[in-house]
Amino acid sequence: MHLLTTLLLLSTTAPLLTTAYSIPPNLSALYNKHKSKPCTHPLATGFHDGQNPTDSTFTYCSDLSNRSIFLHSPTLGGRYDNMDIDCDGANSHGGNCGYDESIQDQTSFKDIVSSQYGIPDLDANIHPYVVFGNTDYDPQRDGMWPLSVMVVVCGDQLFYGIWGDTAGGSWTGEASIALAKLCFPGDGISGNNGHVSDDVLYIGFVGGEAVPGNRADWKAGSTWEFEESIRALGERLVATLT
Ligand SMILES: *[C@@H]1O[C@H](CO)[C@@H](O)[C@H](O)[C@H]1NC(C)=O
Ligand SMILES: *[C@@H]1O[C@H](CO)[C@@H](O)[C@H](O)[C@H]1NC(C)=O
Repeated sequence: MHLLTTLLLLSTTAPLLTTAYSIPPNLSALYNKHKSKPCTHPLATGFHDGQNPTDSTFTYCSDLSNRSIFLHSPTLGGRYDNMDIDCDGANSHGGNCGYDESIQDQTSFKDIVSSQYGIPDLDANIHPYVVFGNTDYDPQRDGMWPLSVMVVVCGDQLFYGIWGDTAGGSWTGEASIALAKLCFPGDGISGNNGHVSDDVLYIGFVGGEAVPGNRADWKAGSTWEFEESIRALGERLVATLT
């Protein structure tokens, strides 16, 4: 009887617990191949991962394809980037964000979000956004569009994100707390506790095709609902990587 109850519970709750996409073999191969390989088509370099500001070896690289951009450092055997926590935007002190003085009450593309998508701003506790681009490097220069879909390989899983914020200075490797909790659910993620290893692959895509527009569920009540709304587009973008 206990077994039966357990099985019934599992079968009714399992769909709600499904909160990760598996990495297609091709993407897994690309992850392994490019991690140790120095970037041969750098778009901009001189960035750091926030942990060691004097290590300015992090580079925006387009080796995966001329239609995509990812972060990489050639040192220490080759690294991607880490995942510091961003809580900027609506509800910036909600959830486990806390009151860190670095929190800003708006994200970089707030004007577009509010004028086109019917919400006042991105919510770091709901929207899985990636912080990409810096004071000295705007990915729009190489053709990325604001609020386009990004591919994120983290914790041996695959998720889709939105390019939703930019960083001042040279700091890279940052994502909304919602995305960090998807990537590292057991790690006690909070406003001042992110993921320190430089093993997260962030890939942005060039061109308007990567913009989900109103196909994305901007008013989603949960991160997973939002993920599902950009999944089809994310899969198409993954398939373009060679
Ligand atoms: C793609 O190639 C063109 C022409 O060389 C270059 O201007 C552009 O910056 C490249 N884009 C990326 C993302 O590498
Ligand atoms: C995976 O890689 C193989 C070999 O490079 C290629 O033929 C195939 O089309 C790729 N599949 C996808 C889904 O990208």
